[in-house]
Amino acid sequence: MDTEKKSPKIRQVAFHKLRLTQKKKITANTFTLDFEIPDALKPAFRFEAGQYVTIKYPSGGEIYHNDFSMTSAPHEERISLGIKINREDSSTKDLFEAFQPGDLLDVSEPRGRFTLVSKPHEFRTIIGFAGGIGITPLLSHFKNILHLEPRTRLFLFYGNKSKQEVPFKEEIDALHEKYADRFEVHYFYSREKVGNAFLEGRLDEKKVELIINQLMMIDDTDEESTLWDSVDEVLICGKGEMIKNLANACYNNGIPKKNIHFELFEEYNDDIYPVEKEFPLIEDITLDFKLFNKEYSAQLKNNKVKLLQQLLIDGYPVPYSCKSGICGSCECMLEEGEVELLENEYLTEKEEASGKILACMSVAMSKKIKLNFDLI
Ligand code: FES
Repeated sequence: MDTEKKSPKIRQVAFHKLRLTQKKKITANTFTLDFEIPDALKPAFRFEAGQYVTIKYPSGGEIYHNDFSMTSAPHEERISLGIKINREDSSTKDLFEAFQPGDLLDVSEPRGRFTLVSKPHEFRTIIGFAGGIGITPLLSHFKNILHLEPRTRLFLFYGNKSKQEVPFKEEIDALHEKYADRFEVHYFYSREKVGNAFLEGRLDEKKVELIINQLMMIDDTDEESTLWDSVDEVLICGKGEMIKNLANACYNNGIPKKNIHFELFEEYNDDIYPVEKEFPLIEDITLDFKLFNKEYSAQLKNNKVKLLQQLLIDGYPVPYSCKSGICGSCECMLEEGEVELLENEYLTEKEEASGKILACMSVAMSKKIKLNFDLI
C-alpha cells in the first residue's frame, strides 16, 4: 500500500517511535527505509507477510499519515519499507530528505488483510503479479513463503516501465538464484523494447493468456495437468486498473475469486468484478451509518452501485481493501432495511445470520438502510 493522505484522517491505530536504521535510494524515484524493532515493542510489531504500517510525518506544513507495505518477512524481525516519490511535490520526497539513520519516526502497529495462511506441509503453486512499487507486499510474501514452505512453487510476473525502473530487482534476483528450483521471475516492460515481444507491454488480460499458454502449459510434476491448473493462490498488487484487469483475467481462466488476493495501491472507485446479477430498481435510498463513532447520512440515487462503492464515490472514509467480499475490511452490521449480499468469502453463516454484511458486496434492496461499521 502506498497511499498519500494528509491528516486529519480518522484512524484508530497505535503509533510508536521506531529508530530508522537504514535509508537507501534504489531507483531514481524509489527508496527504502529500515526500522529496528526494540524488544519491548516486539509484541506490538508482530506482523504477517503482506501487511502495512502507517508513518506519521510532516510535509509542507501538514502532518501526513501514509500507509506503506512492508517488504520484510516476519522472520527478518525488522520493518523494511519500499517507497515511491510519485511527483516532485510528493510528501514522500520530504520523508526521504528529512530523516536520517538514527532518527526516531512515528510508525503504526502493522495492519492489513492482504495476507495468506501459511501451509508449510503442502505442495502449493502461488503466482504473483506486481506493477512498479506494488512489488512491496509481494516481496514480503515471497520471502516468507520461500522461508516457510519448502514445497511451494512461486511465479512472479513483475511489470515496470523500463529496465532502469525496477525496484528491488537485485533482491528478487538474489532470491531467484537462491531458490532457483521453485521460484521463477519474469520482468515485463511497458515502455522499453527488450527484443522479446512477450516481455514488452503492460500486464493485462492478453498477457495473462500468453502466460497461461506459453509459460504455464507444462507441469513437470504432473503430466495430466498444466502449471496454470495447479495454481492455488494469486497475489496481485499495483494500480486499480491493473488489478481489475488481472483479477478478472485470472477469474475468467478458472481461478476462484476467493483465491485471488489483491492490494490496491491507490484510491480506486471502480468495482473489481462486474455484478453478474440483475435486481429490481430501487431509487432515492437513504443510507444512515455509524463509522468511527460518528453518525452519517448518505443519499443514494438508486441501487445500481454497491454500498461501499457509492460511499467511496461520495467521499466517506469507509474502510476497504479487496472490494470483492474476501478480506472483511468493510464488514458492518445491517441494523435496518434490506440488502442483497452478492458474494461472501469472509463471513461465517452464523455471522451472516446475526445481520453482518460486507458493504463492498451488498446492494440496497430497501429505501432505508442503517449500517454500523463500529463492530468492536
Ligand atoms: S473490502 Fe474486502 S470484504 Fe469488503
